[in-house]
Amino acid sequence: MLSSQLVHILAVGVALLVSCHALEPCPDPRGPPGRDGHPGPQGPRGRQGEKGDPGTPGRSASQDILVDLMEFDERISKIEKALTLNGKIVITGDKLFASTEKTADFDGTVKICKAAHGSIAAPKNAKENAAVMRFVKQFNTYAYLGITEGHIPGYFNYLTGKPLNFTNWYENEPMGKGTEKCVEMYTDGTWNDKVCSYSRLTVCEF
Ligand SMILES: *[C@@H]1O[C@H](CO)[C@@H](O)[C@H](O)[C@H]1NC(C)=O
Repeated sequence: MLSSQLVHILAVGVALLVSCHALEPCPDPRGPPGRDGHPGPQGPRGRQGEKGDPGTPGRSASQDILVDLMEFDERISKIEKALTLNGKIVITGDKLFASTEKTADFDGTVKICKAAHGSIAAPKNAKENAAVMRFVKQFNTYAYLGITEGHIPGYFNYLTGKPLNFTNWYENEPMGKGTEKCVEMYTDGTWNDKVCSYSRLTVCEF
């Protein structure tokens, strides 16, 4: 008897629970709710948050420029290597030599090199001489140098008028005695004084 009453109460309870929660709201025994009150006043502002962890340090402007320059230098260096590989340029110290791979007379060579913002090759030591010779040999064509005879026969200068501090004359040269105002380089790298109107390989320095 007790157990069957209990089952009944439980069944009613379950039914009520299901009906109240799933189907429709159960009537509130406390009567209808009152009207909402007015909103309360706004509370005080919260405290300021804690200071965050410091970020990773940034690079200074000068460091940025340095990194840019290093990348730039690396790129230039790669271009130099590539141009050296195919024989387009020869670099010695701070000078760079290049040829148009074409011929011109002395005045034409001076103009072409100037137009390219360089000057006609004027080797000032053995290494620079070897650099110019590389082109002369490669194209098997003599080249005029940026050297001319001054007012005194037999005395040669750079185009600036300054005296030579390096020479590589072929045996017994110069011997034009004032009649050969220009200088050409032979395929072995030695020099010869020559009239200025021949067609010679254009080699410039930068
Ligand atoms: C001649 O002077 C130049 C600097 O004007 C220098 O580069 C060159 O090495 C010098 N040549 C010699 C043989 O000392």
